[in-house]
Amino acid sequence: MRRWPLREVRNPVKLALAFLAAGILLGAVQARAVELSIVSGDTGNGIKVLREILDRYEKKSRNKVDIVVIPPSTTDQFGQYRLWLAAGSSDIDIYQTDVIWAPQLASQLVDLTEATRDVVGEHFPSIIQSQTVNGRLVALPIFTDAPALYYRKDLLDKYGAKVPTTWKELADTAKLVMDKERAAGNRDLWGFVFQGNAYEGLTCNALEWVMSNGGGRIIEPDGEISIDNPKAAAALDMVKGWIGTIAPPGVLAYQEEEARGVWQTGNAVFMRNWPYAYALGNSENSPIKGKLDVAPLPAGEGGHPVATLGGWNLAVSKYSKHPDAAIELVKFIASREMQKYRTLKTSNLPTIPALYDDPDIARQQPIVPRWKEIFLNAQPRPSATARIKYNEASSQFWTAVHDTISGQGTAADNLADLAARLTRLKGKGW
Ligand code: GLC
Repeated sequence: MRRWPLREVRNPVKLALAFLAAGILLGAVQARAVELSIVSGDTGNGIKVLREILDRYEKKSRNKVDIVVIPPSTTDQFGQYRLWLAAGSSDIDIYQTDVIWAPQLASQLVDLTEATRDVVGEHFPSIIQSQTVNGRLVALPIFTDAPALYYRKDLLDKYGAKVPTTWKELADTAKLVMDKERAAGNRDLWGFVFQGNAYEGLTCNALEWVMSNGGGRIIEPDGEISIDNPKAAAALDMVKGWIGTIAPPGVLAYQEEEARGVWQTGNAVFMRNWPYAYALGNSENSPIKGKLDVAPLPAGEGGHPVATLGGWNLAVSKYSKHPDAAIELVKFIASREMQKYRTLKTSNLPTIPALYDDPDIARQQPIVPRWKEIFLNAQPRPSATARIKYNEASSQFWTAVHDTISGQGTAADNLADLAARLTRLKGKGW
C-alpha cells in the first residue's frame, strides 16, 4: 500500500497551497455545472422526445437543462422570441428556431461557425447554407421538413379510388368517399384537412397551391412580386370551394395539430401535414394505425407538385450567460446519434444524409428514406429574398389567402391588394 507523504503536507506553506489548489479545482468543477434553458414549441411528441434527449445529456454532462415550453405555432414563437431578444433576456440560452427565421434573428444569435467546424460537414449543405447569414452560422439544424399527402389506404381501396396526383382528383375522390361513407352512417367523416389558420402554416399550404398551379412563388428570387396573377387567383378560388364541402368549416382555424386531431381519430380521408404525423398515426393507440400511407402532394392541372421546405434548428442567444455550455448542448442535440433517436421516435426527417440509409430508421419509419427526394426538391419560402421583412411579407400573404378562402373578397381583388402592400413593404428593395 502506498502512503500519502505526510511529511510534505505537514509543511504549513505546502498545506496552504494544497488547499488553494483543491479550492480552485472544486471551483472549476462547480463552474462547469450550469443550468441551461432551451425554449421550444413543437407538435406531436416533440417536447417529450426533446426531454428524453436532454436526460441523456444531463447524465453525461453534470449540467441541468430546463425546457421552456411555448405554443406550437411558429408565428407565436417568433413573436415571443423577438420580445425576449429585444429585452436582451438571459433567461433563454437556446432557441429552437424555424428554418425561415435565420435572417431576422441573426444579429442576436451567437456565431457557431468555429465551434461547429468539426460537425457541419455531416449535414446537408443546403440546410447549413439556409442558417448562414453574412457568413455566420447562426443555428445548427436538428430536423428538416417537407409535407406529405396523407391518405387512408383502406378507404381508397374500398371505393377503388387511386391516390390523387392533381388537386382536382383529390377533391373528387374526397367527395366521393365522404358522400358514400356518410350515407353508410360514418357521419363525422370529412374529405380533406390542412392548415387553414391565419399564420405561417397557411403561407406554406398556400405556396403549394399557388406554385403547383403555375402561379409563381409570391416573391421571386430576384425580388419581383409575382403573386398578382390569374393562376394564383385560380388556386385560391379552388381552395375556397373546398371549405364546407370537402373540408370542415373549422379548417379555417386549424394548425398542424388540429388537422392531425381530425385525421388521427379517423375522420378525414386526406390530410396535408409534415412527416411528424406519420409516427403518431401509426402509434400503438392510434385508431388509424396501419390504415394510412403517404404520397407527394398533388399539383394543379399541368403543373408540378410542390412541397414547401420547413425545418428546425437550435440557436444560442447572444445574451446567454453560458454560451460555451449552450453550444456544447446544441451540438449534442444535433448530433447524428441524437438525430437518429429523434427520428425513430418522431419520424422527423434528419438533416444528416447518412441517416437516410440507416436500416433501423428505414424499418421503423419508412417515410424517412422515401421522403429524401421530396425534401431535396422542396421549395423554400421567399425568406432569403425578403430577409428582415419576411415575417411582415408572409403575414400579408397569409392574411390575403385567409380572407379569400373564408369568403371575404375575391381572390383577384385580394391578390391585387396584396401586391400593392408588398410593393410598399419592399420600398427601395428587400
Ligand atoms: C413546420 C415547418 C416549419 C413551418 C411550420 C408552419 O413546423 O417545419 O418550417 O414554418 O411548419 O406551421
